[in-house]
Amino acid sequence: MDGKFISFEGGEGSGKSTQLKLLASAFEKSALPFISTREPGGSKGAEKIRSLLVSGDTDSWDSLTETLLFNAARADHLNKLVLPALKENKTVICDRFLDSTIVYQGIGKGLNEAYIKSLHHIIFGNFMPDLTIILDISPEKGLMRAGGRGDNENRFEKLDIEFHRKIRDGFLNIAKRESERCVVLDATQNLDILHKQIIETIAIRCGIKL
Ligand code: TYD
Repeated sequence: MDGKFISFEGGEGSGKSTQLKLLASAFEKSALPFISTREPGGSKGAEKIRSLLVSGDTDSWDSLTETLLFNAARADHLNKLVLPALKENKTVICDRFLDSTIVYQGIGKGLNEAYIKSLHHIIFGNFMPDLTIILDISPEKGLMRAGGRGDNENRFEKLDIEFHRKIRDGFLNIAKRESERCVVLDATQNLDILHKQIIETIAIRCGIKL
């Protein structure tokens, strides 16, 4: 049987990276086989594409080119890292996946959502996460948190507050439409409480006891 694929989604500064680190430690302690990865990136080729996407001017790419680059990175990532790990029965935890493309390039930048989904279907068939955990935070609070991270991977953070409001609503709408797959958690909560909720969610939805 294949391992479970669990994606994490959320706007800028939702604390995904911190929670993913805590979750990885929990997997290490439990000695269950897993990998922790991210999009865009995760594999050598996809990390090269990542650098084209996350730095530079906000208008470096039109929304179609940007979407194709995210999909190119995703193809390399899935083929080189994610699918082989799932075949070996490992749990894959992934920082962002298709929902980010639908929300950022679709709802945020206006590319047709059905087009993004068809593209995904053509390239990846029915491959989707078994569970998606959405860390929800208002863009005001999120951007304030993200502003302190001090790297140059800020091409998306630089977009205006209206853009980030659309991103938040976009994730919440996906969660409503696909409640079988998605769980929304309050990202403003205390770190440890949120971590416990993530562990509980994974136990209930995927049967993985950490
Ligand atoms: P990430 O490193 O997860 O940023 P953050 O730490 O702020 O969550 O992702 C980099 C950026 O790429 C992020 O701003 C969202 C964007 N992105 C898309 O626009 N579309 C996508 O399909 C993915 C995977 C990410």
